[in-house]
Amino acid sequence: MYAVPFDPQHLPRHVGIIMDGNGRWAKKNKLKIALGHRAGTEALRGIIRNSSDIGIQALSLYAFSTENWQRPKAEVDALMGLLLEFFQSEIDELNERNIRILILGEKDELPPEQRLALNRAEIRTFPNTGLRLNIAINYGGRAELTRAARRMAREAVDGLLLPEEINEAAVENHLYTAGMPDVDLLIRTSGEMRLSNFMLWQCAYAEFVFPQKLWPDFTLEDYHACIAQYQSRSRRWGGREAE
Ligand code: FPP
Repeated sequence: MYAVPFDPQHLPRHVGIIMDGNGRWAKKNKLKIALGHRAGTEALRGIIRNSSDIGIQALSLYAFSTENWQRPKAEVDALMGLLLEFFQSEIDELNERNIRILILGEKDELPPEQRLALNRAEIRTFPNTGLRLNIAINYGGRAELTRAARRMAREAVDGLLLPEEINEAAVENHLYTAGMPDVDLLIRTSGEMRLSNFMLWQCAYAEFVFPQKLWPDFTLEDYHACIAQYQSRSRRWGGREAE
């Protein structure tokens, strides 16, 4: 039997994943880029299920950034198609697993069919109390912070928020992830070591792990190794280690 390499009692509460390397995987396998993203979606299914099984509180996935619109239209269309397919085919099972879905990002700028499917998934799973599954689509960390500032300014103008009341907790309450713990573990596959505008606020004290594998090749064993690596780190939050 497979013995997990991590301590199940001290899991990261919130895991963020930048699923990088679908394009390189497709190229390596002499396949069209869309098939790389499809393979990436397959890898994702297992990671979501397992996160729910082992008791991770929140899992945030970077599926489509505000910058990804610059990619060739065929690739953007393929990604949008996969997103729709994912929500249509997975929603029943995710719901049965008590998983609550939240979309991070501006849904209003997405094609109508995708917008509808995402809204439905959020509404349907809203009462669920298990894994918080956050999927970042048309998302950017700076855009999220700008949105929070704009929302607080609006509340201040409306007399609902005093400038003196704007503190870190207030900013946090205006993020998509309001009420969730910060990201403890941030994984970016494919060897790239960048945050690429992902959850800038929430990753302030995250531990970063950068596996070399391309996302479609990333397995549950790789995921567990990342959790074990996280557990081997000493987290000080700017303070000193206890003597
Ligand atoms: C980065 O690989 C990956 C993306 C831009 C998209 C990630 C999307 C998925 C895994 C599938 C859809 C998601 C859901 C939630 C169904 P890249 O294309 O930048 O890789 P490269 O750097 O090798 O070109």
